[in-house]
Amino acid sequence: MKRKGIILAGGSGSRLFPLTRVVCKQLLPVYDKPMVYYPLSVLMLTDVRDILIISTPEDLPAFEHLFGDGSRIGLNIVYAEQPRPEGLAQAFIIGKEFLDGAPAVLILGDNMICAQDLTHLLRQADIRKHGATIFGYRVKDPSRYGVVEFDENKKVLSIEEKPAHPRSDYAVPGLYFYDERVCEMAASLIPSARGEIEITDLNRLYLKEGSLQMELLGRGTIWMDMGTHDSLLEAGFYVHTIETRQGLQIACPEEIAFHKGWVGHEIIEEEISRLGRTDYAGYLKEMLEDDLAHRGRRVPQSE
Ligand code: DAU
Repeated sequence: MKRKGIILAGGSGSRLFPLTRVVCKQLLPVYDKPMVYYPLSVLMLTDVRDILIISTPEDLPAFEHLFGDGSRIGLNIVYAEQPRPEGLAQAFIIGKEFLDGAPAVLILGDNMICAQDLTHLLRQADIRKHGATIFGYRVKDPSRYGVVEFDENKKVLSIEEKPAHPRSDYAVPGLYFYDERVCEMAASLIPSARGEIEITDLNRLYLKEGSLQMELLGRGTIWMDMGTHDSLLEAGFYVHTIETRQGLQIACPEEIAFHKGWVGHEIIEEEISRLGRTDYAGYLKEMLEDDLAHRGRRVPQSE
């Protein structure tokens, strides 16, 4: 069965008040696009096309307004509510019907991951049919995150949530691959002292049965949770730097869908019209022109 994706984009965003008093965190701008485009693009690069977006009852309509049924970017997107932030692993209680026995990939709606070998790493995780895969990313302040300890063969030894005395410098980013048993496993968890169904407890179940794998995100990789004012600004600067220097977009869903052959010229041309006179539309227009030039045809006028 083909892997399905879940984007968890709930929570109160209280750490970003007053920014998030009326706008959902995962829809805030990160330079030139809404935050959720970044995790969405990671799922698309994994070749996942069936996607569930989970958010609060108040914020969910805005996501629906943004993506609709997903067909404009070659996806099938559905939506579900999480009334209260009762833990990351609750995604698999809420998403049970959607997954319907398929293996899953969960990404947090505020996580940005950019790496040169990302597609390769995602493929490694995707082809593993049994167990779970997490990632490890070296940080200066591991006690703010889930922390993974591992040996020289990358065998996971322990995983702890925000430990006061971390056993390694490697944080666990909010991107997790699970086999088709994940909903069953999540249903067996009991809420932690802070009242949440913890993703770290779910990962521990896989670790206990010896099926938790880890891939390292190497030097030069960017991983951020854009949940503080500083990290939000840093993420925006990062995107700005790469995009203006290279002239290439980071996390452009239309581009990914087009290059994967999920949508054709007409759909992208419609998008260009909808986007008006923006740099983003100009970028997509150039992409079509390049494609046609390679095929020796002229680009049709869309405006
Ligand atoms: O970002 C990676 C980290 O995310 C991991 O290293 C940790 O192991 C993991 O527990 C998580 O830690 P955070 O402290 O960042 O979790 P937080 O409660 O802030 O939630 C992360 C995002 O998920 C945030 O945007 C809000 C959203 N969320 C959170 C919860 C608990 C939901 O949508 N629903 C929820 O129930």
